[in-house]
Amino acid sequence: MLTERSTLAQFLIEERRRHPGSSGELNALILDVALACKAISRRIASGGLTDLIGKQGAVNVQGEQQQKLDVVSNDIFTRTTEWGGELAGMASEEMDDVYAIPPEFPRGKYLLTFDPLDGSSNIDVNVSVGSIFSIMRAAAPGQDAVAEDFLQPGTEQVAAGYAIYGPSTLLVLTVGRGVHAFTLDPSLGEFFLTSHDIKIPEAAAEFAVNSSRRRFWEPAITRYIDECLQGVGGPREKDFNMRWVASLVAEAHRILTRGGVFMYPWDSQDPEVDGKLRLLYEVNPIGLLIEQAGGLATTGRERVLDVKPTDLHQRVPFIFGSGEEVGRIIRYHAEQDDDPGDSAERVNPLYGLRGLFHVG
Ligand code: F6P
Ligand code: MN
Repeated sequence: MLTERSTLAQFLIEERRRHPGSSGELNALILDVALACKAISRRIASGGLTDLIGKQGAVNVQGEQQQKLDVVSNDIFTRTTEWGGELAGMASEEMDDVYAIPPEFPRGKYLLTFDPLDGSSNIDVNVSVGSIFSIMRAAAPGQDAVAEDFLQPGTEQVAAGYAIYGPSTLLVLTVGRGVHAFTLDPSLGEFFLTSHDIKIPEAAAEFAVNSSRRRFWEPAITRYIDECLQGVGGPREKDFNMRWVASLVAEAHRILTRGGVFMYPWDSQDPEVDGKLRLLYEVNPIGLLIEQAGGLATTGRERVLDVKPTDLHQRVPFIFGSGEEVGRIIRYHAEQDDDPGDSAERVNPLYGLRGLFHVG
């Protein structure tokens, strides 16, 4: 079934025409990433018909149980993107160190980071999962990249996106000029443009947070959620709805589609760990998409895209979504830092008045 819609390749070629000097390597890389996502989508759709459901029996660099499909998806990503000569190196949630391009292939001018199967704890219960990716420029084009080359702030990303494997498979992409969604036509194996220049509604009344961690939150988060829960009779004077899929891609996609706010804040259970989600292959790509769609993405205290990474697998607190809500949460963090009150013991030691980095 051919339609009037552009394919992903058509869209990318039209974008490239805006940059007459461009070589087409970025497009080639994005099309290879899209191929990886199609292959992963097929594997996932087979579910229990293959022996790919279940645990791999290993723990990744994050200390998380690897699922068989985490490992398969990681292999698909590396194999579909390593050969084309666009990459100087890649880094993934599932690999401890930088993945070096095999010796038989040329080195290119881009770096790729990815979470090959985000939300993979949802696989056995058949809930939406996804893949997330980010593309940056290599410090030394044509040479093997080292870990330090990846430690660029999110503002340096040239492209970012995710695939969501839900009732339909979508690729959601930015190459720096808005956010666009492409739906996979499985009969043709082709992504077609289905939403152009997605914008997140400014106002929202829906939040996503794992509230089982409430006892570990900072006062700013508790205050925000408590006010939402009071509904129409409380200070917000409206009722809020709550969602938690436990799949970052699924939450990001819902928020891009109908607004809302997502929070995975710092929490005091392990004070030295700064948040749960990983900066280089989860937070930065989602953060860029959200900003490109007119929303905000913050740690609560800093724009995520401005964070200077210090480690390949660094975690940061992550709050994103509709501008009005995220703006309010940023204000609550600032007010908490100005006046931690009698709950100072729950103030993030990395930032709070009694904290490690407190000056003056
Ligand atoms: O990649 C980590 C992740 O699976 C995200 O996709 C998701 O947002 C989060 O963890 C879920 O965390 P929790 O298990 O605390 O609900
Ligand atoms: Mn993930």
